[in-house]
Amino acid sequence: MSDNFLKRDTFSSKFGVIAAAAGSAVGLGNIWRFPLVTTQNGGGAFLLLYVGFILFIGIPVMLSEFSIGRRAQSNAFGSFKKLAPGTPWYMVGFLGIITAFVILAFYSTVAGWTLEYLIQAVTGTLFQSENMEQNFADFSSHPYRPVLWQLVFMVLTAVVVFAGIKKGIEKITKILMPILVVLIIFVVVRSVTLDGAKEGVKYLFVPDWSAVNFKTVLMALGQAAFSLSIGMGTLITYGSYIRKRNNLLKTSTQVALADTSIAILSSLMVVPAIFAFSTGSIGDISPGPGLVFEVLPNVFKSMPGGVIFSIIFFFLLCVAALTSTISVLEVVVAYMKEELKLSRGKATLVASVSISVIGVFATLSFGVLGNFTILGQTIFGLLNYASANIMLTFGALLIVIFVGWSLGKSNFMDEISNKGIIISSFHKTVFFIIRYIAPIAIGIIAVAALFIEGLTG
Ligand code: TRP
Repeated sequence: MSDNFLKRDTFSSKFGVIAAAAGSAVGLGNIWRFPLVTTQNGGGAFLLLYVGFILFIGIPVMLSEFSIGRRAQSNAFGSFKKLAPGTPWYMVGFLGIITAFVILAFYSTVAGWTLEYLIQAVTGTLFQSENMEQNFADFSSHPYRPVLWQLVFMVLTAVVVFAGIKKGIEKITKILMPILVVLIIFVVVRSVTLDGAKEGVKYLFVPDWSAVNFKTVLMALGQAAFSLSIGMGTLITYGSYIRKRNNLLKTSTQVALADTSIAILSSLMVVPAIFAFSTGSIGDISPGPGLVFEVLPNVFKSMPGGVIFSIIFFFLLCVAALTSTISVLEVVVAYMKEELKLSRGKATLVASVSISVIGVFATLSFGVLGNFTILGQTIFGLLNYASANIMLTFGALLIVIFVGWSLGKSNFMDEISNKGIIISSFHKTVFFIIRYIAPIAIGIIAVAALFIEGLTG
C-alpha cells in the first residue's frame, strides 16, 4: 500500500514545530539577502519598516497560513480546495506551487555557492586568492562548477524531504537550528568588537528617511514575507503537520521573533565587519548578490582568526539554506503526493529534478547566460525580484483575503483557539488585522510600488 493511505505524518513536539518553521524562516534570506537589501535601501529606516511589517503583517499572515493548513489537513493546493470547494481559491494554492519553483530555482544557486565557499574556506584556497571580487566572478561565471554545487545542494535537500516530516525535516532542524544560533552569536561578538565596527552599527540603527520611497517600502514588505517564508503556502503545508493541541498564535509569534532576531544578528555579523575593514562609506561598496562572497571574505582575510570565522560563517550559510530549501521543496512534494497521488519518493524525485532544470538557468545567468536579460534583469535577478516582491506579496494578500472573507471569523477563531480551549484577547485583534488592515496595507504598497516605481528593481 502506498503511504498516501496511511495517517498523515505530523511534527512530534512543540520544539519540533518551532525548529522546522524557524528553520524555514531563517535562511539565506536573513544572512545573504537581508544585509543586501538593507544596504541598498538606506539602512536603519529600512530596518524599522521591516520590523513593523513583521509585527503587523507577517505574524497575521503566518497565523493565517498555519490555520488554513491545520484546518484542512492538506497541502497548499488541496487546502483551498477543501476549505472553499467549488470556488477558484485553489488558484492561490497553485500560485504557491509555482512560486516554490521560482524561489528554489534561484535560491539553490546561492546555496550552491555557499558549499563552494565552505570548501574554499576549509581547504584554505579562499585566502590564497589575491582579489576576492575576481575569485567570486571567476567561480560564479564558471561554466559548470556552480551548477555542480547547486545540484549537490538539491540532492541534500531531496534526501531530507524524502525521509519525511518526523524523520527528515523535524529531526534535522532540531539538530541544526540550535547550532546555528550559537555560531551566529559567536561571529556577531567578533564582528561588533572590531575596531571601526561602530560606524556599521550606527548605519544599521540610525534611520535615514531620505532613502525611503514606495519601492523601499515594497522591498521591506517583500523581504519580510521572504524571510518569514509566508505568501506561498510553505506554512500552510507545515501547518498541516502541526498537531491540534499546539497554540498557533504562540507558535507564529515565537517563529517571527526567532527569525527577526536572527535577521538583526546577521546584519550585525555582516555590516559592522564590512565597515571596520573598508575605507570610506557603505556607498563605496557595490552591493550585489556577491556582497557576502566578496566583501566578507576580504574582511575575514584581514581579521585575526579569520580562517576559523570564515569556516564557521560559510557553514552557517549552508545550514541556514538547507533548513529553508527543504521547506520549499516540501510544498511541491506534498502537492504532488496528495494531488497527483505519487509516492513520496517519486514526488521528491520529480519535484527536485524539475526545479533543478530551471535552477541551472539561474546559475548560468552569472556566466554564459549573463547577456540574456528580461526587463533589464538577468534570469537570476528576475526570479529573485519577482518572487519576493511580486509573487509573495500577492500571495500574502490573497491569503489574508481568503481567511478574512472566505474562511471567515468563526472558522478561524475555532482553529486558533483549538475549539475554544485557548482564550486570548489578541485573537479578535489579529482577525481584525487579517480582515481589514493587512489587505489594505499590502494592496496599497503593492499597487503603488508597481505603478509608481515600475515593475523591476
Ligand atoms: N525564509 C527563507 C529565508 O529567509 C526562504 C524561504 C523558505 C521562503 N521558504 C520560503 C521564502 C517560502 C518564501 C516562501 O531564506
